[in-house]
Amino acid sequence: MNIAAQVREIYEQRPYPFGGRRSRRQPWILNLDWVDAFGRDAGAVKPARVLVAGCGDGTEALQFQRLLPEAMIVAVDFSARSIALARRRQRSERDMQRIRFLVADIADPSLARTLGETFNLIACHGVLSYVASPVQVFRNFARCLEGRGVLYLGVNGSRHVSTVFRRALPALGIGLDRFVASKRVSDALRLCDAVISRDGFPRVSGLGPTFLAGDVFGPLNRCLSLTEWTLFARRAGLHFRGSGSSVRLFRQAAESGLQGVLMPRSRGEVCDLLERLSPSQFHRLLFSRAPEENPPWENRRSLLRWRIELSRLNSIMLPRPPKRIRDRLRPVTIVSSAASLSSEWQMPEWEVELLRRGHSMRSVGSILDAIPLLVPFAVLRSQLYLLHQMGVITLRPPAGPA
Ligand SMILES: C[S@@+](CC[C@H](N)C(=O)[O-])C[C@H]1O[C@@H](n2cnc3c(N)ncnc32)[C@H](O)[C@@H]1O
Repeated sequence: MNIAAQVREIYEQRPYPFGGRRSRRQPWILNLDWVDAFGRDAGAVKPARVLVAGCGDGTEALQFQRLLPEAMIVAVDFSARSIALARRRQRSERDMQRIRFLVADIADPSLARTLGETFNLIACHGVLSYVASPVQVFRNFARCLEGRGVLYLGVNGSRHVSTVFRRALPALGIGLDRFVASKRVSDALRLCDAVISRDGFPRVSGLGPTFLAGDVFGPLNRCLSLTEWTLFARRAGLHFRGSGSSVRLFRQAAESGLQGVLMPRSRGEVCDLLERLSPSQFHRLLFSRAPEENPPWENRRSLLRWRIELSRLNSIMLPRPPKRIRDRLRPVTIVSSAASLSSEWQMPEWEVELLRRGHSMRSVGSILDAIPLLVPFAVLRSQLYLLHQMGVITLRPPAGPA
């Protein structure tokens, strides 16, 4: 049996994540504001056509339809049993009738023809680590993605917990090809857990047979660095836009006042560098067909022409508008839903005004012109770089020729 057939067999036996049963566990949800802030180009609207690639028992597709009631959703999986369960669940939920569930292999070179349409958003969560030919899948996604669309990818990182188990279990005399529950296997898993749980890894023995069968056991589990995943994508013509870990890692650099060391790298380049220092267990990555537009951080005149767009990723509480803008610090509260944290920043008043007036996509220069303060360029670009990398704002190119 080839790798694809063995992987399909795993999910035929245990459709993911709930095997069609209702569960009290919260299903995984993609944060669309994060996709917007890091993956989408200026002026793009909410995704109207979504492809869920490797949809399992349908949970993920149903979740997307709840988030985007107007969207047309196509969900595919190569496990016929998973798709049958998904259709059964669909029949029992009134608002889910428009989802198109299909049995299809995302590595099949004719996928784009089979689907017959392009998508604004493709979500492929927890699938590509088990596919023998990831570049072919990326090529298929590049073909299925609309010009300004975004690909979200959830894949295992080089520190994924399964790497430790897949090294240790054969040494304990346990084969990795198939998961067969037994006391011997359970004791071996508990032994591994007992040793590694203090290294920040989740306890695997309690994660249930569906996780164990596909991740710890099974013929293939690619656990790769960000650099390796983005290389596959680049070979298919897709550009890396951001990672779920980047805001947290950038924040750690900025808290030590070291964001200037990372300048003038783009968001994607910063992610790549920070991931080399602190590799993820699981990557949440965004790609697009168009490359990211990195603002001209070194050039004052050009940078002033770029426009500020406030992202919806955070709620920002600004102090009351002053009668007269002065050279002083004001408190600004930023609540990030993605990172579930709230922080109070002390910002110069001119920067508060950039955020206050950033709703209308005005250029940095035109906002500063209306402020009776001279802001040194080094300070301005350092603060803009911080806000842009943290996803509080996105700097967009000038509307006309740059
Ligand atoms: C770990 S589950 C993830 C399911 C879903 N994305 C989620 O996060 O709930 C992986 C799914 O990918 C499917 N899969 C793996 N390789 C595939 C391929 N080449 N084509 C289509 N589906 C595939 C499996 O059948 C399984 O349902």
